[in-house]
Amino acid sequence: MTNAEQQAVAILVPGQFNDHAVGRIDRTFSRVWIERADPSLVSDDMRKAVRGIAAFGGISAALIDALPHLEIIANFGVGYDSVDARHAAQRGIMVTNTPDVLTEEVADTALGLLINTVRDLPRAETWLRDGSWMRHGNYHLSRLTLRGRRAGIFGMGRIGRAIARRLEAFGLPIAYHNRHQVEDLPYEYHGTLKGLAEAVDTLISVAPGGASTEKAVNAEILSALGPNGVFVNIGRGSTVDEAALAAALANGTIAAAGLDVFADEPNVPPALLAAPNTSLLPHVGSASEHTRRAMADLCVDNLVSWFSERKALTPVPETADVKARA
Ligand code: NAP
Ligand code: 8YV
Repeated sequence: MTNAEQQAVAILVPGQFNDHAVGRIDRTFSRVWIERADPSLVSDDMRKAVRGIAAFGGISAALIDALPHLEIIANFGVGYDSVDARHAAQRGIMVTNTPDVLTEEVADTALGLLINTVRDLPRAETWLRDGSWMRHGNYHLSRLTLRGRRAGIFGMGRIGRAIARRLEAFGLPIAYHNRHQVEDLPYEYHGTLKGLAEAVDTLISVAPGGASTEKAVNAEILSALGPNGVFVNIGRGSTVDEAALAAALANGTIAAAGLDVFADEPNVPPALLAAPNTSLLPHVGSASEHTRRAMADLCVDNLVSWFSERKALTPVPETADVKARA
């Protein structure tokens, strides 16, 4: 494909998108914009022209079906549970994500969130800023500590391992649960999430969203974690039964929770907002300029590679066998 031919390739970019990615798409392809990823907004011209999507939010089967010439969906993010990748695979459409380039950043955030949750640091900072330190004296001692804790990781993949490496440096023993035991990993493996929750008091979830993990962290798992238990979620909100979590925090089934992700973002359940034993972040796991730029580059590099080399750089497993049309 010549540069001029590539410039004519229409890439749909629904909604708001990363500025650096938009700049590169504008310089390389022909960008088509709609307000949100809604098939009813697809015009006849778009139907005829669009060959790629750069996606920040959900891409449904209906949107995929509304675009007969679609070849590739380049997802901005490693988690792609909001893209119907199975449907894309059935239609011979490639889906790519952005693994590795965000791993260390998200692991850093997970450790920050864990420490904030256990040592109550955000409220201690508010105590200083609102003058309470001067008026009322020292902030109270934190009820919880990382010392003596046993950490369990639900989802020992790329980010899970980066979190584990950090936890090792903090001196915590580590166990994990995945569907498959990872070879050559020096951590205790549990074949069930309940077994993991029983064995540890600090559960960090970095599992992907989707049907197989939907509300996996439920009342039974929280009860197994126990009254000294701390739950941290940096994976996906859909993996947690949020009503059960709010109840467990209120009645002392577990001690505290740190959450970066929620089931219905940006809506955070009022009970979690009001709880004195939660530390909450607005899905900022990868949200530094440095890392978002690297994600943007990988997202766009996948589009460039697909249309120039007819190969994706980082296909998701569901579409690993999808081949470019001749
Ligand atoms: P990854 O390397 O694919 O790791 C995912 C791990 O989860 C795998 O080890 C997998 O092992 C395990 N897993 C998948 N389904 C499971 C199930 N049903 N039960 C138990 N374990 C399961 O992915 P990653 O790069 O580490 O990213 C993980 C997730 O983090 C992403 O999917 C995304 O949702 C989330 N994330 C969040 C942020 C943020 O800003 N908060 C940023 C980046 C990523 P098995 O296949 O053996 O089960
Ligand atoms: C992003 C993420 O915030 O990569 C992921 O799976 O959750 C985050 O890095 C998200 O992808 C933005 O759409």
